[in-house]
Amino acid sequence: MLCLIFGGMKNFQDHFLLDDNVNFLNFGSFGACPKEIFEEYQQIQLQLEREPVKFITDTGMKLLENARRNLANYVACDPDDVVFVTNPSYAMNTVIRSLQLKEGDEVLTTNLEYGAMDRTWNYYCRQKGAKYVRSKISLPIIDKETFIADFWRGYTERTKVLFVSHITSATGLILPVEEIVAEAKRRGLLTIVDGAHVPGHISLDLNQLDADIYTGACHKWMMAPKGASFLHVKREHQKWIDPLVISWGYQSDFPSHSQFLDYHQTNGTRDFSAFLTVPKCIAFMEEHNWTDVSKSCKKMNLQVADELRTKFNITPISPVNEEWLGQLFSIPIHTSDPQVLYSHLVNEFGIQIPVTRNEDHIFIRYSVQTFNTHQNYEMLMDALMVLQRRGQLDFMG
Ligand SMILES: Cc1ncc(COP(=O)(O)O)c(C=O)c1O
Repeated sequence: MLCLIFGGMKNFQDHFLLDDNVNFLNFGSFGACPKEIFEEYQQIQLQLEREPVKFITDTGMKLLENARRNLANYVACDPDDVVFVTNPSYAMNTVIRSLQLKEGDEVLTTNLEYGAMDRTWNYYCRQKGAKYVRSKISLPIIDKETFIADFWRGYTERTKVLFVSHITSATGLILPVEEIVAEAKRRGLLTIVDGAHVPGHISLDLNQLDADIYTGACHKWMMAPKGASFLHVKREHQKWIDPLVISWGYQSDFPSHSQFLDYHQTNGTRDFSAFLTVPKCIAFMEEHNWTDVSKSCKKMNLQVADELRTKFNITPISPVNEEWLGQLFSIPIHTSDPQVLYSHLVNEFGIQIPVTRNEDHIFIRYSVQTFNTHQNYEMLMDALMVLQRRGQLDFMG
């Protein structure tokens, strides 16, 4: 495959395992793992299978400790406050199940949250008689101030917890979590941030953000193999969070210095190789100046978003700038059947791109990763033009 150059930057196409025949515009959902990281993953699995007992009880544990330290350094937190989990759903279930919500308590969030998270909150709130309050964010977002005002409109004296995405899923927006977390602290709320899309995408400093609880995925923008994510909990909150799976780490025979690690790291036999690739992911990003790579992707995102806006007379759902957009862009559309539209994009045009939904709004959300060229988006625009002509979609002007 040709290794293309844009803006003086290599685009690393040859580093990925992706199918050449697919116009891959959905890095956001599950990431994609570069070959050298995937090879490291397989090497670790081989090591595990060659001596499972030694690996699971000894070598692997040391590698896990090293991986946790590397991750902590990357996301700027204390290594004893972060633990690997398979995915953000796991992390959030762990936390919410243990949360002592009382009848009538409220959890304040936005109406832009990820469906799996809404479901998890609804499930536990129903059990506890608490209320999950989704503040309606007006679209298009005009600026940070109006967003924040919309958000706090859902606050009442019964609000006990704040939950918010750092980068939203269907709408692909970077939300002003720093301001929201700071205000929530002034109001004495427990702050929980869903940063699934954040690590490797925009810079993350957990110490500075100072949220009580934060979850992030390593298998999206950090490019780890699937099943590598983390849960970060500030020290003062660790004691009330029970393990989601009770196993040897609970009432441990050999407790470590941290109950938090014992509880959440030891949950039965499993393949934790994906966690162990995290140091390699970080080294890969450092070696290839990933901050600059990501910067060019963000630049291309804004450029393509502007082209789309002009070509299809779209009203974007936020200002088209780096305050709100990283490497994702959600195009607001009308369609009678999102599933049929998605299958046309994939099967007829060979474009892997999600058709996402947020309440009544439907979007086509593209990602920009280093291997994407402008031609990928020209193909998308051509396909959208054909589908519009056929009446299968329309744009929200
Ligand atoms: C905002 C957000 N939260 C959480 C998740 C992770 O969900 P899961 O636990 O299914 O990996 C995603 C996945 O895309 C997401 O976009």
